Amino acid sequence: MVDDYLSELMKKAKESSNTLDSSPQNPVKNEEVIIKNNQPKILVEDRDEEIAGTIKQKDMEEFNKKIVEKETSDEPKIEINADDAKEKTYVEKKLETAKKKELAKYGKVTIYEIAGEPMKFYFIPTLRPTSAERKIINTIKEATTRLVSIAPFKVRNPEERRFLYKQKITDIINSNPNLKIPPSRLNFYADAVVREMVGYGLIDDLIKDDKLEEIMVVGPKKPVYVFHREFEMMETSIEFFSEQEIEDLINKIAREVGRRVDVSNPLLDARLTDGSRVNATIPPASISGGTLTIRKFREDPYSIIDLIRKGTLSSEAAAFLWICIDGMNVKPANMLISGGTGSGKTTLLNVLAAFISQRERVLTIEDTAELSLPLKHWIRMEARPPGLEGTGELRIDILTKNALRMRPDRIIVGEIRHDEAFTLFTAINTGHDGSLGTVHANSSQETLVRVTSPPMNVPKIMLSGLDLIIVEHRYHDRKKGTIRRVSEISEVYGGMTDDVKTQAIFQRDPVKDVLERTLINSKYIKTLRDFTGLSKEKFDAELDIRKQFLEKLVEENIHDLKKVSELAQDFVEKRSYGENL
Ligand SMILES: Nc1ncnc2c1ncn2[C@@H]1O[C@H](COP(=O)(O)OP(=O)(O)OP(=O)(O)O)[C@@H](O)[C@H]1O
Ligand SMILES: [Mg+2]
Repeated sequence: MVDDYLSELMKKAKESSNTLDSSPQNPVKNEEVIIKNNQPKILVEDRDEEIAGTIKQKDMEEFNKKIVEKETSDEPKIEINADDAKEKTYVEKKLETAKKKELAKYGKVTIYEIAGEPMKFYFIPTLRPTSAERKIINTIKEATTRLVSIAPFKVRNPEERRFLYKQKITDIINSNPNLKIPPSRLNFYADAVVREMVGYGLIDDLIKDDKLEEIMVVGPKKPVYVFHREFEMMETSIEFFSEQEIEDLINKIAREVGRRVDVSNPLLDARLTDGSRVNATIPPASISGGTLTIRKFREDPYSIIDLIRKGTLSSEAAAFLWICIDGMNVKPANMLISGGTGSGKTTLLNVLAAFISQRERVLTIEDTAELSLPLKHWIRMEARPPGLEGTGELRIDILTKNALRMRPDRIIVGEIRHDEAFTLFTAINTGHDGSLGTVHANSSQETLVRVTSPPMNVPKIMLSGLDLIIVEHRYHDRKKGTIRRVSEISEVYGGMTDDVKTQAIFQRDPVKDVLERTLINSKYIKTLRDFTGLSKEKFDAELDIRKQFLEKLVEENIHDLKKVSELAQDFVEKRSYGENL
């Protein structure tokens, strides 16, 4: 039965590809591949779940090796060939003619510099199937959709999911001689189908590049931009040729998270299976076409050691914030991290939360789950916009209120924007010490104004529960490029009777480019000293010993977040504060 069905499908594809005019003026419509919708869904393999649990890295490598071996060099690979020359992208054309210098090469990527151009260029060979090939790809895609059912939640690891799909797609192609796909093209078609079904089409390779921080699709017939960890903003050789191509990708992402993007809902916030955060817009919201902004998830999240090495904060300030997180076991600080877009707030929040003791019960609430903590007793909550029927919305505020009923030791709100501010401050003022969150603001003073103004509306009197505001900025330095720096660590005072003000305990010296401790008498440090009975000197000694500990990790290049968190916790466990320090 499966064979009959496939034969019919392949025959249709063959017929239509024979009569195909592959010129771009006559684009192929998907409907031309006639697939009967009433075909029963048949499982090629009913053991997906079982298989999913047993996939090994070795299996994947061996399979890929075997399938690539089938590729012989006597048949040309479809890259950008003469027929498609007119379809070359802007950057491809530019790189072909300009005098360029190769700056770096890794995997399939080459980074070029062209004299006189402000940005560098990111080149990656792209397989743009010809229209005839697209026909075949669509057919195999249809067949795969009908014949293979692998529930995403059963195979969570994206690499394993890809592997399973590739195996099954290869089986489908192999068992269908009607398609007349030579062995040398098997890998090309299998990869193309995998990329479209379980990957992200044209930008799939960009999503897999861990050196990228951000991927930005700005509309059709314009280069896709990337922000690279080392080479910063670049134009890539990838380009969507039509609005439809972009909207197809946006729809695919929307479907994965059970949403719909259309004229009445032209905005989408979602998370990809690899954890990356994505925002998409379509017309009429973005007038010159669909856009995608993808903040890539870091496989290897930054630790405090990475931030010290990058100069984001000094080791002394890092040691101080570490003390603030555990509060010397007496008074963990309530802190807000402020900064502009992309200044590194979420990253710093993650870095600091990694200092929280494994003994605590931690609840995080986010719009799009981005935090990646090395903690065991951690409950992640994620907000959700209304579903397709306009119901099922889960607002951050509702989740924060609910979190209070879950006996949390710590409440962390990823990004505070609306009513949740009031809920969080209620928690802070009713004894939930050690609460953390981020706010969009450019200084400590501005943070207070934002928090007390609409739509957050926190009454001034409640601000006294907030101990510290950390402000981070993203700067463009002529020599160093884009840098991220903590500009101040300030504490909040006043509020009960007079105006609420802030004073910096650490302040960045822009000339020396260091975050230095100021001479002010900190109210928060005084509270810690009062609770522990530590003298001023002993407090400073504690700060110093933690600073040295962090510097040693920097020196020994121990920066893995999990490792740093373990070592720091072990360090704190062995110390006791009070009389015997
Ligand atoms: N201190 C840092 N040094 C270098 N890169 C950093 C630093 N902090 C964050 N980044 C990188 O900058 C990007 C933005 O970081 P992050 O998501 O933490 O910013 P954000 O302020 O939370 O942004 P948004 O306002 O969009 O929520 C990420 O790709 C991250 O890896
Ligand atoms: Mg953020």
